Amino acid sequence: MIEARQLTRRYGSFTAVDGVSFQLGKGQALALIGPSGCGKTTTLKMVNRLIRPTEGSVWVGGMDVAGQPLEELRRRMGYVIQDTGLFPHYTVEENIGVVPKLLRWPAGKIRSRVGALLEQLGLPPGQFLDKYPHQLSGGQQQRIGIARALAAEPPIILMDEPFGALDPLTRQQARRDFREIEALKNKTIILVTHDIEEAFEMANLIGLMKDGRLQQLGPPRQLLLEPANDFVREFLAEKASQLELQSVTLAGVFPQLIREAPTLGPVLELPSNTPLLYAIHRLGKEGERYAHGVTQLAGERRYFHLDELFQAYKQTLSQWNN
Ligand SMILES: Nc1ncnc2c1ncn2[C@@H]1O[C@H](COP(=O)(O)OP(=O)(O)OP(=O)(O)O)[C@@H](O)[C@H]1O
Ligand SMILES: [Mg+2]
Repeated sequence: MIEARQLTRRYGSFTAVDGVSFQLGKGQALALIGPSGCGKTTTLKMVNRLIRPTEGSVWVGGMDVAGQPLEELRRRMGYVIQDTGLFPHYTVEENIGVVPKLLRWPAGKIRSRVGALLEQLGLPPGQFLDKYPHQLSGGQQQRIGIARALAAEPPIILMDEPFGALDPLTRQQARRDFREIEALKNKTIILVTHDIEEAFEMANLIGLMKDGRLQQLGPPRQLLLEPANDFVREFLAEKASQLELQSVTLAGVFPQLIREAPTLGPVLELPSNTPLLYAIHRLGKEGERYAHGVTQLAGERRYFHLDELFQAYKQTLSQWNN
């Protein structure tokens, strides 16, 4: 769906982005992470031509974006700007409607689209349409930023630190809400963040950058378990133990286990991609000796006892420590 080929951007003798390549399938999410100044924003902006590459190219649906009309590109790629980037003198309605207006949608169609998006994002239109950004909380502004990117129904969404301006707690909640947003499902997403946890939570593919270069590109687990170099290892080291546990799911640990439905205690429904540690927390929190977890995988129900999950957790840890 999106392919970057050897993207490079120089400013004089300084190379901000150096030979970045990746391929992203439809409905997948790529997170670009790395320290401040490593070239994340520049890479993202080259994807939608806000910045022209010095070398290399970006292909979307088999076409080089360099040759496409800008309007067409804006229609296909929504962009959530670092620090929300809402226009302060525009109302919420005007902010969200920017791209549809640019695309000359009729006023009535824009209005109903904006209303529908606000509903989906949990912001009652009657209350928010006429507000200005300074009258909104940080989390609300961030949702308006996402609504604006989604307005013209683009299949691709580019997001630059969408949760960057939020405090850690609001940030976590925003991330959770984010996964529930209907209009975001099935989108192809490139997300820029400096937060590894965020990257692991939201992306199928992680690109870790340093000094303009991709140090490693791969699924989250690959970066953790097979770091390409010392920089990757060290960058992840700090949060590694937490992240490992997040990347281990029920289905990953119990591929075979099928049991009869338990007759004792309550049953907790957990999807098979639930992180193991989360499943343990949830079951533990229910406080029931006989609490069981259920996953549904290919139509089969699988039941776990809390003790089994602990056992698996300890085994996984000891495997990693060896
Ligand atoms: N117009 C420009 N002229 C010269 N240098 C630039 C220009 N734009 C960006 N740079 C430099 O290119 C490098 C990459 O910048 P970029 O904005 O892509 O970093 P980033 O990874 O997004 O950082 P942050 O996490 O702080 O947002 C930085 O060193 C920056 O100073
Ligand atoms: Mg940036």
